[in-house]
Amino acid sequence: MRACSLAFWRRHSAHAVLVAVLAGCIALCSVANAKRVTARRARPASDAASSGRVYEGTALAVRIYFKPLPETMPGHRDDTPAMIALGRRLYHERDLSETRSQSCNDCHRVDQRQSGVDCAPTSMGAKGTRGARNSPTVVNAGFQVMQFWDGRAPDLVEQAKGPLLNPIEMAMGSESDVVDRLRARADYSRDFAAAFPGHAEPVTFDNAARAIAAFERTLVAPARFDRYLKGDTSALTREEKRGLERFVNTGCVACHNSYPVGGRSLQKLGVYHPYRNRKDLGRYNVTHLEEDRFVFKVPMLRNVTLTPPYFHDGTVSTLPEAVRLMGWMQLNKPLSPREVSEIVPFLHALETEHPLRDTEP
Ligand code: HEC
Ligand code: HEC
Repeated sequence: MRACSLAFWRRHSAHAVLVAVLAGCIALCSVANAKRVTARRARPASDAASSGRVYEGTALAVRIYFKPLPETMPGHRDDTPAMIALGRRLYHERDLSETRSQSCNDCHRVDQRQSGVDCAPTSMGAKGTRGARNSPTVVNAGFQVMQFWDGRAPDLVEQAKGPLLNPIEMAMGSESDVVDRLRARADYSRDFAAAFPGHAEPVTFDNAARAIAAFERTLVAPARFDRYLKGDTSALTREEKRGLERFVNTGCVACHNSYPVGGRSLQKLGVYHPYRNRKDLGRYNVTHLEEDRFVFKVPMLRNVTLTPPYFHDGTVSTLPEAVRLMGWMQLNKPLSPREVSEIVPFLHALETEHPLRDTEP
């Protein structure tokens, strides 16, 4: 499941990769162009941003590292309106928890303009116990190449099966318990038949997960940054452009890149300096490989301003503190409060621009 690029990123120090790629690209420019680039490079980055433009070297890196959010999520082709409607109902269905008290939406709120999280450090399960991890957002989640903090599910379908049976989440006893609950309801028998025509027995555990994933694939939420990447330079404010420069030039972009701005690789948390909470071994719990100790999925940063608290354990309550820790632990850079406050505005440009539609049951 691990894509080649993950192995590539992990073999190199994040910064060395960034420098190498940038150097390669700049070398590709023509001699005349190179002269112009060098002349501009001599100016401090923030000068260019305050003049309303993004520094030329940075603009090149932006084109290499980021892509606008596609309009549809991978795997959407087979999704029908009937399947999406069923998935939306299942997503909000509390009967799918052992105590009939909890739905997906209780931990990943998508109704009432919520951003796909519960804003709690860790979430309370149906039986009143808390897990050890923070709930990530479901909005745009399907653009990532793996799900969960340790990347243990390859896609939304496999992911959806997890919480239903997880004893500290929805706590259903078995797959057949889930199916029994659904078959007991005439409305669901009808909706499954409409969503999965031609299936001799449409109400199955797999089909429930497929329908939930089809609904989640509708949670596509572009931001102003996407308009910027498509050429509308006025979509970002000066502060946000300066933040983008800092984000790129500090080296954050080595891990948080592509259209989700993360979500596409696994990285050690604490490349240079260890994270203070050493209890969660991350990817190691999945693979039992020594090299995977404290390795986590690089989270996507879309809507990160709207999904506090931060980190896999939800113990970092503010975004400036998360950014400061990242600079120190991942890049060996003790960022000053000013540098941190320059990066944060860029993260606001990653907020969903329009409210999600059709998310209520
Ligand atoms: C009790 C709260 C709770 C419930 C209920 C719950 N989740 Fe989650 N969800 C979490 C937590 C915590 C994680 C992170 C767990 C981990 O990484 O090990 C998570 C992870 C996810 C992810 C992965 C996102 C990412 O970026 O990696 C998706 C997608 C998701 N849940 C969807 C669902 C769906 C669909 C349901 C209903 C079938 C559901 N969740 C029910 C708490 C919950
Ligand atoms: C070497 C890879 C790497 C680099 C470089 C990096 N990050 Fe991260 N980032 C991660 C990983 C891995 C996590 C997940 C942390 C965890 O598991 O608790 C993360 C988490 C975050 C979070 C918290 C997200 C959330 O939803 O909880 C923010 C914000 C963040 N990074 C911003 C930045 C910024 C800003 C920079 C540059 C100063 C940066 N990162 C550099 C790998 C990296």
